[in-house]
Amino acid sequence: MSLQVENLTVYYQTLRGEVHSLEHANFNLGDGEIMGLAGESGCGKTTLGNSLIYLAPPMKFIEGQVALDGEELPVWDIERMNEFRFKKISIIPQYAMNAMNPTRKIGKMISELLQSRKINYKELLSVIKERLDKVKLPHDVLNMYPIELSGGMKQRIVMVLSTLLNPSLLIADEITSALDVSTQKSVAEMIVKFRDCGCMKSVIFITHDVSILYQIADSIMIMYAGQLSEKASKETIIHSPLHPYTKLLISSLPKVGVKHSEKKLTGIPGTPPLLLNPPVGCRFRDRCPLAFEKCLETPPFVEIEQGHFLACWKEGAPYA
Ligand SMILES: Nc1ncnc2c1ncn2[C@@H]1O[C@H](COP(=O)(O)OP(=O)(O)O)[C@@H](O)[C@H]1O
Ligand code: SF4
Ligand SMILES: [Mg+2]
Repeated sequence: MSLQVENLTVYYQTLRGEVHSLEHANFNLGDGEIMGLAGESGCGKTTLGNSLIYLAPPMKFIEGQVALDGEELPVWDIERMNEFRFKKISIIPQYAMNAMNPTRKIGKMISELLQSRKINYKELLSVIKERLDKVKLPHDVLNMYPIELSGGMKQRIVMVLSTLLNPSLLIADEITSALDVSTQKSVAEMIVKFRDCGCMKSVIFITHDVSILYQIADSIMIMYAGQLSEKASKETIIHSPLHPYTKLLISSLPKVGVKHSEKKLTGIPGTPPLLLNPPVGCRFRDRCPLAFEKCLETPPFVEIEQGHFLACWKEGAPYA
């Protein structure tokens, strides 16, 4: 098992109170698994990703345990996480490619980053060049400024950089969101290619766009309002989801072979609850067509068949 997360709960401290952005997250990631993490904007995807690697204020660790390759990750301790960060667990943060320093050439930027981690740039240069070949970028990019590169090229460089030390886990947060459709496809393919050649072992691929996951994910985990709703193989989530929220999310996507103009995209009625004072029980209750009294209690996230996890009182009937 690559990653084990138990009961992970993380809040944001704000002047108005604590925002309950991640509650009681329980899930595992197998060796080599590419897990898509999806859900509407604001449901806690970035919070979950960041919690595993850089849990800094205003984030506040409440409880939980995380293990990577059987070793406990001290996620509540930013200093101790230095030992793991970038080496065993790496992240491509949301908006990373736009955060490149425009006054630094790419090579210089990589060298400074490695230096800050006490790693010698020259010693890794052959690996860097080999990885640039893998993502089909000329070595010349090392002498270029970010402004000279397209969005897709920048995203590939960020990917090369974040996986240079072959981390066990890569967290990729919305890395395709700002790209055009064909570039999205090729960046997504790079993720699979990098996993296949061992540049990283497993991946959490965060996106608000489930359709990109058709192409690359092994499994998909759906979040809603700070809680996990469902996790299963890609095929199960796409073809036979059980959670009412997953069903609505999948049915609102355009179907393969159907032109956009033929099918008007239907959004999911209503809005998610505010996480400052979230309602008790299932947080999807107000929008759920199947809600009943029991839903005033929080449904546990349980394995209803091998590899299929669900938090719903109705659809997980055996334990209701
Ligand atoms: N720095 C912050 N301070 C307070 N609340 C935050 C902060 N960042 C995120 N949140 C809140 O946490 C929730 C989850 O946000 P986030 O993890 O960014 O969602 P997602 O990545 O799914 O869009 C949202 O309700 C958001 O408003
Ligand atoms: S627990 Fe209840 S409200 Fe929540 S998704 Fe299931 S049926 Fe709907
Ligand atoms: Mg996000």
